[in-house]
Amino acid sequence: MQQVRIFFLLALGSWASEKGATKEGFVRISPENPVVEFGGSLVLNCSASCETIGLETAFTKVPNGTGSNWRAFLLTDIRDWVSDPLCYANCGDHQPKPASATITIYKPPESVELNPVPEMEAGKLYDLMCRVSGVAPIRNLTVTLLKGAEQLLVKTFEDHTAPEAGPVVVKHRIIAQQNDHNKPVTCQTSLDLRPRGPLLKNTSHSILRIFDFAGTPQLHVGLFLEAGIEMTVTCDASEVSPAEEAVFDLRFAGMPLTLNTRVTGGVASAQAVVIPSSVGEHELLCRVSLGPVTKNVKKMVNVFGTSHICNWVNQSHSILIQITFNNL
Ligand SMILES: *[C@@H]1O[C@H](CO)[C@@H](O)[C@H](O)[C@H]1NC(C)=O
Ligand SMILES: *[C@@H]1O[C@H](CO)[C@@H](O)[C@H](O)[C@H]1NC(C)=O
Ligand SMILES: *[C@@H]1O[C@H](CO)[C@@H](O)[C@H](O)[C@H]1NC(C)=O
Ligand SMILES: *[C@@H]1O[C@H](CO)[C@@H](O)[C@H](O)[C@H]1NC(C)=O
Ligand SMILES: *[C@@H]1O[C@H](CO)[C@@H](O)[C@H](O)[C@H]1NC(C)=O
Repeated sequence: MQQVRIFFLLALGSWASEKGATKEGFVRISPENPVVEFGGSLVLNCSASCETIGLETAFTKVPNGTGSNWRAFLLTDIRDWVSDPLCYANCGDHQPKPASATITIYKPPESVELNPVPEMEAGKLYDLMCRVSGVAPIRNLTVTLLKGAEQLLVKTFEDHTAPEAGPVVVKHRIIAQQNDHNKPVTCQTSLDLRPRGPLLKNTSHSILRIFDFAGTPQLHVGLFLEAGIEMTVTCDASEVSPAEEAVFDLRFAGMPLTLNTRVTGGVASAQAVVIPSSVGEHELLCRVSLGPVTKNVKKMVNVFGTSHICNWVNQSHSILIQITFNNL
């Protein structure tokens, strides 16, 4: 009795599985893993073991061809990040298992922006920051920060599972180095959807501006000037790099002077001619700016009256200076 029952069950089982394979039939969807641009369109082909075939989808669909056991549909305006279309078939007395497609919707970045790089002081720390917005899918994105051709950072987001477009921010801290002055920094994004989709690259560039101003400017001027007499004053800035970019401002008694600037042997200097008009103590000020750094140097200068004496001793400065000194 027991044996008979087991035999019966086995027979029933094999009959059922045989019957299932033939009777259930099939439904297929093609392509199964399409890659579509956000807002784009797609043709899906449903085929089955019988003729009554349909496609269930949230997207707008129109027929795009029919055959004896297939139906194609054109889906348009694909904007739903998580909607999987489903092919089904009604084969009279049974329904084969439906087949669904998983659509990867991509969106090239709306913007890639390397934050404006500030003027940097050699030796200090700065953050480079790249903002990418409106990109999908983020798990297929790679953001690379480069200094010249050197890779500073390569960031991937495999763990980001959300399919929606979103922003991404990438940061990297650098020490400003003098020899990187004027080197380009690049933020490069690559959205890799190969082999079923495209490889999309975008970039944003900036230029590093790095300044080194270790020295203190020096003013060269006589301690005593004579009213009405020209005198050349010089302001030197050493240990400045790049020396060509030093900007000078020389003022005498608050008035800006006309300058001649030059660079020799890594020293930047500015020269101006002063013709003091009023007697007394006046301030001579030299302000040197190099990128983000500004340094000042001041000197108090005595201007002495030359009065009537001036005219008849004009030929000889030494005499004049003696006379003015005697006035002290
Ligand atoms: C749809 O698929 C069927 C079965 O694979 C194929 O015969 C037919 O050509 C396809 N139609 C289109 C438009 O690709
Ligand atoms: C299918 O859709 C494409 C547009 O993607 C169109 O050019 C073509 O004519 C359509 N074919 C049919 C049979 O509707
Ligand atoms: C990124 O590149 C794609 C083409 O590769 C372009 O369509 C898109 O507008 C670009 N985005 C930006 C922000 O430049
Ligand atoms: C995107 O990234 C996922 C996860 O890293 C990967 O499995 C997939 O092959 C990538 N490409 C596409 C087109 O989705
Ligand atoms: C001094 O003499 C020079 C010519 O030698 C003349 O040009 C100048 O105006 C004189 N200066 C004054 C203050 O008289």
